[in-house]
Amino acid sequence: MRTIYLDNAATSFPKPAGVSARMKEYLDSVGAPINRSVYGAAQDAGLVALSLRERLARLFAFPEKPTHVILTPGATAGLNLILKGYLRPGDHCLVSAMEHNAVMRPLLQLTGVEFDRIPCDADGLLDPAAIPPLIRPNTRLCLIAHASNVCGTVQDAEAIGLICAEHGIAFALDAAQSAGHLPLDFGKLRLSALCVPGHKGLLGPSGIGALLLRDDFAQALTPLIAGGTGSASDSEFLPNYLPDRFESGTPNLPGIYGFEQALHFIEETGIEALRAHERALTARFLDGLFGMPGIRLCGTRDLSRRVGVIALDFKTIDHAEAAYRLEHEFGILTRCGLHCAPAAHKTLGTFPRGSVRFSLGFANTEDDVDAALAAIRNISEG
Ligand SMILES: Cc1ncc(COP(=O)(O)O)c(C=O)c1O
Repeated sequence: MRTIYLDNAATSFPKPAGVSARMKEYLDSVGAPINRSVYGAAQDAGLVALSLRERLARLFAFPEKPTHVILTPGATAGLNLILKGYLRPGDHCLVSAMEHNAVMRPLLQLTGVEFDRIPCDADGLLDPAAIPPLIRPNTRLCLIAHASNVCGTVQDAEAIGLICAEHGIAFALDAAQSAGHLPLDFGKLRLSALCVPGHKGLLGPSGIGALLLRDDFAQALTPLIAGGTGSASDSEFLPNYLPDRFESGTPNLPGIYGFEQALHFIEETGIEALRAHERALTARFLDGLFGMPGIRLCGTRDLSRRVGVIALDFKTIDHAEAAYRLEHEFGILTRCGLHCAPAAHKTLGTFPRGSVRFSLGFANTEDDVDAALAAIRNISEG
């Protein structure tokens, strides 16, 4: 039986050719730290890290210098830094009703910080007009999941950014499910911070991600981790300059090599081509679901407002059993349950049952989609 990987929203698989080789090359042949020693191999490693920052800056039309592309262990680390490094007791923050626990859990750890959830409709779509009435004099930050990791619904980040700019509120985007899937323009969206993981749509390995910071936002941000940076070593205080201020400790160098290599593939293929492929497969998937009686599609059918994350509520079978049968009878790998996003499931009306999530990637084909549709039909009718 052929295995069909449809869990790309959790982590993308396979990775583009060359990613694992580049990580192996670092481990077997380079092996040096960055920003510390000055021999040739260490300088080469430093150049790969710089190239990674430059590629990310290019990909997201980032108007600041590559120094403001902070390398993190992943999206969760970046989101924690945004929330815990920026908000102070007495502040108010806005999030959407579709957030992942990578936002909700750190937010709920903050004492003295209040927040409101911007309501979203039953498809998970936020109406930007709902934002102004929620803004208070002490609202300092609006942090939104760009694309839902549950149902793929994409928010109108440009409209939200405009409202935030008009009210002088910092706007941060959790692009965990949109980076690598949709074109993203940092300046056009009027962002203060953009948080991305390396291992999802950007097709790199896990354990590496990035946080792109506008300079004024970076200046207002307190680092959460302090330690050696290999710079300003005469001082026991963290340097003020970026990226060092937010990058204490030896970074994930195999991850940096793999992530940088993955971005070659993204640049060569182009976001528009990746988007077109995913959109065509999503259309085929949604068309094929039409008229199937045993399932309900969660989220919007509108292809211009979604990515290829497809959540199904099976009416006649438990979701864990559905996912088990999809794997064992059809070789199809999915994710069932609540997807670390109980708030999103409450908005979509699928809490606490959750859903079975099928998420597409660049390597999926029409045959994969057709096989998934046949399996869904079999399971939901059987
Ligand atoms: C919307 C969203 N935000 C944040 C995260 C956290 O990303 P990571 O696990 O790479 O830190 C995820 C991961 O699934 C996600 O889907």
